[in-house]
Parts: sequence; structure tokens; C-alpha cells
Amino acid sequence: MTHTALARILVFDSGVGGLSILQALQQTLPASQYIYASDNQAFPYGTKSAEFLIERVHKVLQALIKKCQPDIIVVACNTASTLVLPHIRQNFSIPIVGVVPAIKPAALQSKTKVIGLLGTPGTVARPYTKNLIGEFASDCEVVCSGSAELVAIAEQALRGTLPGAEELSGILKPLFDNEQLDTIILACTHFPLIKEQLISASPRSVNWIDSGEAIARRVNALLPTLTTTNTTLKDVKNTAIFTTQSAAIDCLHKTLQRFKLTEIEYIKT
Ligand code: DGL
Repeated sequence: MTHTALARILVFDSGVGGLSILQALQQTLPASQYIYASDNQAFPYGTKSAEFLIERVHKVLQALIKKCQPDIIVVACNTASTLVLPHIRQNFSIPIVGVVPAIKPAALQSKTKVIGLLGTPGTVARPYTKNLIGEFASDCEVVCSGSAELVAIAEQALRGTLPGAEELSGILKPLFDNEQLDTIILACTHFPLIKEQLISASPRSVNWIDSGEAIARRVNALLPTLTTTNTTLKDVKNTAIFTTQSAAIDCLHKTLQRFKLTEIEYIKT
């Protein structure tokens, strides 16, 4: 076992959202090997119960670790990370980086101290998220909005069907109704994938914040601390893994190629 600057990085989400995190990782660490895993069988996570998600994420990660032996895992899902991190860190010895709402930078950057938090219904309701707000944004008014619809819209967008501006304006309305709001946190990894469309559908300009670059910096900082058996990484093919076969994956091929995911595999859970 040796220290290495290369790593086999497992990026995990319910659906395609984690690709926004994968993109940031690939920009910072292009030489690493990436395995992108989508639990499409249990998608979406944003409307599922806490009990279900804790058990489900444990089960899927266990199967993924067995199959891929990653050096580090990125749970590229706010809905899962705001709930399951303590449980999975206790159960798996591999370093795990979670993606949680970027409340601290948003509070620091907002001039009006009115910020929007756009996530899944699960993420915006979590005690973890409320604690983050209490810890880092106690001087701000935080307008929370949970949208499962926007997750479905992002899934469709990556399959080639772009959303209409009207539909997006309707989803953004509860945030923009507050005229003081100057910052929106994209607290679901699906949302940065349709950021351009969200900006076009917005009635005025605001600062959009997501977690991608911070996560890439965190993984980069952890790499020298990893003890890994993947130093040579002879087989550097990047793979997408799904938990069920589905016709919806066929429409994703172009997108997967864009993210340099050249192989597709399946695991049984
Ligand atoms: N991409 C996920 C997140 O960051 C969850 C989407 C879903 O499955 O509802 O929250």
C-alpha cells in the first residue's frame, strides 16, 4: 500500500445529478479513474423516508464497494448526505466525502442577507440542513423551497428534453417572490446541470451557488492521505453503474460519453 496522487473515485447519486460533481472532479483531477453509480432502481430519493434511505444507501454502497473497490467515495447527493453520512462512515472504512447544501459560502457572499435554498423536499426538511442554517446563516433569512419536479426536469434535460422557461419560472417563484433575495443555493446535485435554463427563467439576476468546486478541492486535499492499491490504475476506463436495467438509460448514452463514462455496468442489490 502506498500513497498516491491517483485514485479510483466512486461518485454516487440516485440519478444523473452526481454528474455535476463528477464534472468538477474531472476538471480538478483528470488523471483519476471514475466510477459513476446511479441507484436508478430507487430514484428519486428526495421523496423517500429517512428509514428507507438509510437502509438503501447502505445496501447499494456495500454492493458497489465489493464490485469496484474504490479508494474514496463521494456521496454526490444532498438528500442522502444530509441523512446517511454518520451511518455509512461508521460502517465502511473507506474515506467518504458527502455533498451538503453550500449554506456557509452563500451566507458569506449574500449582501442582502436573504438567501434561497433550492433542494429536494427531503433535503430542505432535514434537521441536518436546519442545523447548517443555524450554524452558518443565523444572520440571514433563508427561504427554503423543495422541488421533486425540478429533479425530474433535470433527468429529462440530460436525456435531451429541455424544460420550458414557464415551468421553471413557476418553480423559482417562491424564491423570487422575496424581492430582497440575492443568492440561491442549488442544494441538489441535479440542479447545476440545468443552471443555464434556471438563469434564463429567472426574473432578475442573482448569485447561484453550488457545491461542485468545494467538493473537488476536498477530494484533492484528501488524495495524499489515501492508502490505495490502485496506484498504477492500468485499467483507467471510467464506468457508469446502474442498479437496474431500464430503457431510460438508452437515452443517456450521449450524456455519459460527454462525462467520459465509456462503460456501462449493472449491480444487483
Ligand atoms: N441529486 C440528489 C440530491 O442532490 C437527489 C435527487 C433525488 O433523487 O430526489 O439531492
